[in-house]
Amino acid sequence: MPRHRRAAKKSHASFKHEGAFEGRVRDLTSDGRGVVSHPDGRTFFVPGVWLDEVAEIRVVGRHGKVGLGQVITLKKADPQRREAPCRHHGDSSDHCGGCPWMFMPYEAQSAAKVRRLKSTIQGLGDSTTQLDALLVAPDELGYRNRAQLKTDGSKLGYVAAGTRTLIDVTACPILSASNREVLAHLRKALPNPTWRARKQDWQTIDLDDNLEEPSLNKRLPFRQGNTQQNAVMREWLAQTIASISPDAPVLELFAGSGNFTEVLATHFKTVVAVEGDQQALQQLSHVAPDRIQAHALNLFSLPAVEAWISEQEGIRALVLDPPREGLKVRAPFLGALKELETVIYVACDIATWARDCKDFLAKGFRLARVTPLDLFPQTPHLEVLSVLTRA
Ligand SMILES: C[S@@+](CC[C@H](N)C(=O)[O-])C[C@H]1O[C@@H](n2cnc3c(N)ncnc32)[C@H](O)[C@@H]1O
Repeated sequence: MPRHRRAAKKSHASFKHEGAFEGRVRDLTSDGRGVVSHPDGRTFFVPGVWLDEVAEIRVVGRHGKVGLGQVITLKKADPQRREAPCRHHGDSSDHCGGCPWMFMPYEAQSAAKVRRLKSTIQGLGDSTTQLDALLVAPDELGYRNRAQLKTDGSKLGYVAAGTRTLIDVTACPILSASNREVLAHLRKALPNPTWRARKQDWQTIDLDDNLEEPSLNKRLPFRQGNTQQNAVMREWLAQTIASISPDAPVLELFAGSGNFTEVLATHFKTVVAVEGDQQALQQLSHVAPDRIQAHALNLFSLPAVEAWISEQEGIRALVLDPPREGLKVRAPFLGALKELETVIYVACDIATWARDCKDFLAKGFRLARVTPLDLFPQTPHLEVLSVLTRA
């Protein structure tokens, strides 16, 4: 074992707060932090730094085997750095943690997203994969059609990254114009004793620019958070399915309230749509009811999926848009859908998407096409639109 790896292994057990070190950012994590090696070989995650920057870093803790650091001074800053267009941006516990990449221009953020995706695709080992250009967001600010605010009755805002600290947010530039207005209106009610949290640290208020009046602790069913980019995704889906025969039923997993189901129903004669959330299913049942068979199912329950999938016949196309966990229970689909020819996988988490793709590739599929799309500028999030076909 190399010397630095031995040293790193030995020191995990006694990892404690221990001063500072200088290091270069060698990578960026999926949540946007810099990855920096300590001179003794240990890996640290550090917020607020960019690739190739050099910083003096204070050791502030650990998470598992990884050290947590905070920048004391930047020794070599990226020349593209900018003043973040938000007064609440920053990486300490006094700042909102919602937009960790806001200190870099949008072009640099986009390049970093594509870089990570490219390296993931290389790891999948299908040299025939077509990687399309990033579908960039038309607006890097003012795009969020919904957001969850938190309040303890005296503050109203978001939580600082990795903490339970509520940050009072006076303005949020990534919110859509109507959500910004609602935030300003809600803030006029502060302090508000009826919003005071009782057992928990805070209560929640979900903003949604389709809602007249937000209410306390009312969880809304899923909706894609960027209206303009959702329209682009729907258009991509319509174009992608156009070459598939409409006669065989298409299976859609994690259908939500029917955002993609509606597009599928314009082409396929039968859409078998599966979703676990009752409220979403209710909305889904109003979308093209003559073509859609909606099913309530917990797709993370192996016995439930096994029993259900064995009754499905003639499925040639699968469309899925899972939450971050990906297609956690996938063996029954891989085993039972013998006639499956096309998988259209829309992913919000690159790591679980790659894990699931590996299993499809092992079953004789190829990763034909990948189209990255930016749903959330100022964050490391990347939406991956992909097509796998039976080789
Ligand atoms: C990323 S959203 C996609 C929704 C839809 N495609 C859209 O564009 O609005 C994921 C969906 O998966 C559903 N979901 C999450 N976990 C689930 C589970 N274990 N079983 C079934 N559905 C689940 C959520 O309710 C949510 O509607």
